[in-house]
Amino acid sequence: MNIVIIGTGYVGLTSALGYTQLGHRVACVDVNAEKIAQLDLGQIPFFEAGLSDVLRAAQEAGSIIFTTDLASVLSEAELVLFAVGTPSTSTGEANLSYLLHAARDVGRHLDHEVLLVVKSTVPVGTNRRVLEVVREAMTTNGRSDLTSLIQIASLPEFLREGSALADFMAPERIVVGADDEIAYRMIEELHRGIQTTWVKTTIETAELTKYAANAMLATKITFINEIANIAERTGANVIDVAYAIGLDSRIGPSFLNAGIGYGGSCFPKDVSALRQIAGAHGYDFKLLSAVIEVNNHQRDLFLKKIQDVLGDLKGRRIAVWGLAFKPKTDDVRESAAIDLVRRLYALGAEVLAFDPEAIEAAKRVLPDGIQYAPTAIDAAEGAEALVVLTEWPEFRDVSFSTLKTRMLDPIVFDGRNCLRDAHLEKFGFTYVGVGI
Ligand SMILES: NC(=O)c1ccc[n+]([C@@H]2O[C@H](COP(=O)([O-])OP(=O)(O)OC[C@H]3O[C@@H](n4cnc5c(N)ncnc54)[C@H](O)[C@@H]3O)[C@@H](O)[C@H]2O)c1
Repeated sequence: MNIVIIGTGYVGLTSALGYTQLGHRVACVDVNAEKIAQLDLGQIPFFEAGLSDVLRAAQEAGSIIFTTDLASVLSEAELVLFAVGTPSTSTGEANLSYLLHAARDVGRHLDHEVLLVVKSTVPVGTNRRVLEVVREAMTTNGRSDLTSLIQIASLPEFLREGSALADFMAPERIVVGADDEIAYRMIEELHRGIQTTWVKTTIETAELTKYAANAMLATKITFINEIANIAERTGANVIDVAYAIGLDSRIGPSFLNAGIGYGGSCFPKDVSALRQIAGAHGYDFKLLSAVIEVNNHQRDLFLKKIQDVLGDLKGRRIAVWGLAFKPKTDDVRESAAIDLVRRLYALGAEVLAFDPEAIEAAKRVLPDGIQYAPTAIDAAEGAEALVVLTEWPEFRDVSFSTLKTRMLDPIVFDGRNCLRDAHLEKFGFTYVGVGI
């Protein structure tokens, strides 16, 4: 199939590469000329394991091209897939301006039958709006004769950064919302070769499913954080509680890691957007308001913990391990780590940070006064405390005896409980986790 994908971010690029592996020809379009130029040279503009090799292979095979010129590739397309960002507005709704802009562009240039597919996470009703916008632009452009041939399908994406391509190639389910059998069949054809569970449903259900999935996961994290807070006050251990309740198949073990809470480019915006969607339909989604409040408060509690032990942070040297919102990515959007680094710095701390992949991305959003170290150990040089904010697995491989010799005071605040099994006390550290 000939596909045009609009937006070459984490989702658009991963999907594009995945579809080339399934035998399709993909034209990737982005408004960011720098990104397109980089991709054209075979460079991935962000850190995501496994993409480079597939990009090289696809470019060699001629199955992928990159352009900023939508019109130049649209005429060949059988399917146009939208994967642009839908970040939060200042009031917490999904910002649809990128998507609607892309839709207008498509409508302006479209001169034949295609299936439009929305992979971006969007509020209920958005797919139909995108279709309307495309058809309106076609009509303005004198192609009203073709508008009835243009259909739309909602294809929410569930991949996780850090394992994006693997998730794309082996999804736990594919959810597709459409109005007719032809659209379902085209989406099936698009994914031929992937074994998975299909959920074929209405457009509205598919749109809501994506938000429900992310809100559920955010709620699970938030729930265990509340249990962690009770554990701290009662002398219980949240790790054991999480393990024990996770053995119950009705609950399951994942997303039960207590810590400083969720962040990232999806959960915060999607939880807010779902609350807004509910509100716009006259329903007060109280649970999600609590999730947002508890998640924010979790960072306050962690910061207070540091202040309770260290006192005034002014002029205190603090090592930070981890800036990405989670391991195996360089994505720092809405990262809890970034927020905490900002707050430590605002309180006067001298912050020396390390992250295996996210330093460059962090530099773009953090104040200039933050310093960065080339290794985890170097970040701890002369530090009065080490604060762990992202659970990169390699942090567990650090030589803790060396670490201790480099720090001024051997105190570790572990915001992800990821060093709990490293027995830091044995090396002479004071170890402070969350809920343990
Ligand atoms: N990142 C994830 O893990 C993930 C997972 C599932 C779903 N999603 C959803 O997928 C969507 C995309 O997310 P992302 O993380 O890939 O975003 P991103 O910010 O990494 O990429 C979006 C890309 O779209 C481009 N763009 C914006 N407007 C455009 C236009 N008019 N024409 C062409 N290109 C345009 C931007 O330049 C950018 O490169 C969002 O709705 C997100 O919620 C993301």
